[in-house]
Amino acid sequence: MRTFGLLTFFAAVSSLIAPVLGSRQQRHRGSSTGIAGTAAPGAPYWLQSIKHQGIAAFNANPSGYQVFRNVKDFGAVGDGVADDTAAINNAISSGIRCGQGCDSSTTQPAVVYFPAGTYKVSSPIIAYYYTVLIGDAHTPPKLLADPAFAGMAVIDADPYIPGGGGAQWYVNQNNFFRSVRNFVIDLTRTPVAATSTGIHWQVSQATSIMNVVFEMSTDPNTGHQGIWMENGSGGFMGDMVFNGGKFGMWVGNQQFTVRNVTMNNCNTAVFSMWNWGWTFQGVTVNNCQVAFDLMTGGLTPDNQTTGSIALIDGYVSNTPILVRSSVPSNGSLHGALVLNNIHLKNVPTAVTVSGGTTVLVGSTGTMKIKSWGQGNVYTGTSSVGTFTQGDLAVPYKNHDLLDSAGRIFGRSHPQYENFALDQVVSVRDHGAKGDGKTDDTAALQAVFDEFAGCKLIFVDHGTYLITDTLRIPPGSQVVGEAWSVFLGAGRKFSDQANPRVMVQVGEENDIGIVEISDIIFATQAPAAGAIVVEWNIHSYTKGGAGMWDSHIRLGGAKGTNLLVSDCPSGTVNEACSAAYLALHLTKKSTAYLEGTWVWTADHDLDSGGSLQITAFSGRGILSESQGPVWMIGTGSEHHTLYQYNLIGAKGHYLGLIQTETPYYQPVPALPHPFTPSRRFRDPTYLQGQTSAWAVNIEQSHDILIFGRVASQVARPAAYNRF
Ligand SMILES: *[C@@H]1O[C@H](CO)[C@@H](O)[C@H](O)[C@H]1NC(C)=O
Ligand SMILES: *[C@@H]1O[C@H](CO)[C@@H](O)[C@H](O)[C@H]1NC(C)=O
Ligand SMILES: *[C@@H]1O[C@H](CO)[C@@H](O)[C@H](O)[C@H]1NC(C)=O
Ligand SMILES: *[C@@H]1O[C@H](CO)[C@@H](O)[C@H](O)[C@H]1NC(C)=O
Repeated sequence: MRTFGLLTFFAAVSSLIAPVLGSRQQRHRGSSTGIAGTAAPGAPYWLQSIKHQGIAAFNANPSGYQVFRNVKDFGAVGDGVADDTAAINNAISSGIRCGQGCDSSTTQPAVVYFPAGTYKVSSPIIAYYYTVLIGDAHTPPKLLADPAFAGMAVIDADPYIPGGGGAQWYVNQNNFFRSVRNFVIDLTRTPVAATSTGIHWQVSQATSIMNVVFEMSTDPNTGHQGIWMENGSGGFMGDMVFNGGKFGMWVGNQQFTVRNVTMNNCNTAVFSMWNWGWTFQGVTVNNCQVAFDLMTGGLTPDNQTTGSIALIDGYVSNTPILVRSSVPSNGSLHGALVLNNIHLKNVPTAVTVSGGTTVLVGSTGTMKIKSWGQGNVYTGTSSVGTFTQGDLAVPYKNHDLLDSAGRIFGRSHPQYENFALDQVVSVRDHGAKGDGKTDDTAALQAVFDEFAGCKLIFVDHGTYLITDTLRIPPGSQVVGEAWSVFLGAGRKFSDQANPRVMVQVGEENDIGIVEISDIIFATQAPAAGAIVVEWNIHSYTKGGAGMWDSHIRLGGAKGTNLLVSDCPSGTVNEACSAAYLALHLTKKSTAYLEGTWVWTADHDLDSGGSLQITAFSGRGILSESQGPVWMIGTGSEHHTLYQYNLIGAKGHYLGLIQTETPYYQPVPALPHPFTPSRRFRDPTYLQGQTSAWAVNIEQSHDILIFGRVASQVARPAAYNRF
């Protein structure tokens, strides 16, 4: 999230070292593809009809607080005629919620649901902090901007305060926990020349937009734009289509991952104002003027402009220019570009500079850019880069990571839109309380044991206290509600000399699918012995073992014993330990992680004002997996020893990965308060090293990192070893 000094690295790496393969003796449990949906044609999405019994356990009034809100219950009509703005905003804001002046809160979550229909709006839908806006996944509703629409955007995630001189509701780098899913946003009735905007998305980690279509004017002089984002620290978005518009996406943000987007008939598909690094995976652009227009030239941290863009698996047709930057890239902190597997059809100019020379000629016929880059290329252990502009060595891609067309495989967040109501079971209906106090270990285990592989397991919003290892068996399909929390607590997780798994996804040798979405894994301090998630499951179906929009959040929230009153910044208290290891992908596992933020809180989300805390988590993500592993839009921050550690690993695609070291380092000095472990394959440290490893990779091969951003507070380098 927040950083002051900065250091950006950008790397596409494929390293070859001898493989280390374990023997496989695995057991099959559960099906290989998941349950088939049996919803009747025309039936509403199951989420609309299930019992709504989520509770916000740490809310001031849990029994009176409503988590799930159907906009129609608040008076929205959805007939395309009535103005539904007030009703929708009322659905979002009712009860005490985290709006203007609140900064952040984990105790006032909401799912705001839109049944199929057309909802006319005349001013912004204001998406409060910790709000998930979900349309019927089967028949996405339309949000229709009225011809007289006034305001920033149809959906606004961080409003400007009128007359506030640029002041906003939320701090852009701390604007976490939001999602927008399953909508058509239609701007075509607004005046052609107006700067009508679909979504103002100025957000940070643990955010997503998915399955959204933006309809905009195709007039060459239109001012419409799909997404407008001026800053933030994200994030993931994907599965979007932009039709028409001056800009599909107008974006500035420290870092972001975008997967599977299509732009048709936009003037400019993507305009990039500033960034440290963005990864675009699977982009299709048809009939635009420019696919990627990059503002470059700023050389100071307060005028960063576009640092780097990585584009993999692109299809661009009938578009005069693929990439244009405002000044030539020259090895300074801007305009780095990697193009990998880009197919052009009638794109005469591939890479160019505004009003300047063509850097890479395109083709009026067809052309494929296998691997091309501009920027500094670093080799060996040298920290001195060589400015390069031209073809790069084509990195090897492990076949297991690719789809049938040779692209990096991708799988959208499953929404089970064809499931019938009786295919969904609620954990609260089966004895789990989710009240943050009751020990739910046995109740949850019973639900998983009974329903894995036969029902969709719905974890109603709540905080489910677990005091011993919870086993998620093969076949499990698990869906949370605005990030339902599994909270590990008690003495079994408190001893770093005896680390213990909190949530075990499959046991060693288990084969089958596991799908987890919208869940947070957290702990209650002291928890220096918690291995928060151990991932053992192996799926032969690509993307069959995965997590979407699910996060590991350590400290900083009510219920964790790690608020500013417990562990203020500057104190060194070993009881302020939140984890031993956050996420462990074991040798035989496969994993598809999309939008996963593994965060040790550096500030308190529940006391107002982003007050800094000092919480300790030993290790971020450890992977020993033999692959395939996809980490698409993941981040790992503020862990004591390392953020990512790949040891004896094989067949991984990581793009983009974001890291930050703990803010408290170098005091206490590494590795305090943890003791390095051989069993958990901790990296060794360089003499004089004062902060955690960002990324450590050893004895691994076929590791492809496509976009990486590392930063920390005004302090020398995140060290890297490959
Ligand atoms: C965010 O972006 C806006 C628009 O470019 C700019 O005015 C503002 O200063 C930025 N805020 C921060 C905190 O960088
Ligand atoms: C890409 O997104 C579209 C929706 O825009 C969806 O139908 C399709 O399944 C997605 N493809 C992948 C590979 O995620
Ligand atoms: C790169 O270009 C900028 C102007 O855009 C200039 O200020 C800077 O000195 C150049 N750096 C190098 C290394 O040539
Ligand atoms: C930032 O850099 C860009 C590109 O060089 C330049 O056009 C712009 O004026 C600069 N802005 C500021 C505030 O310095």
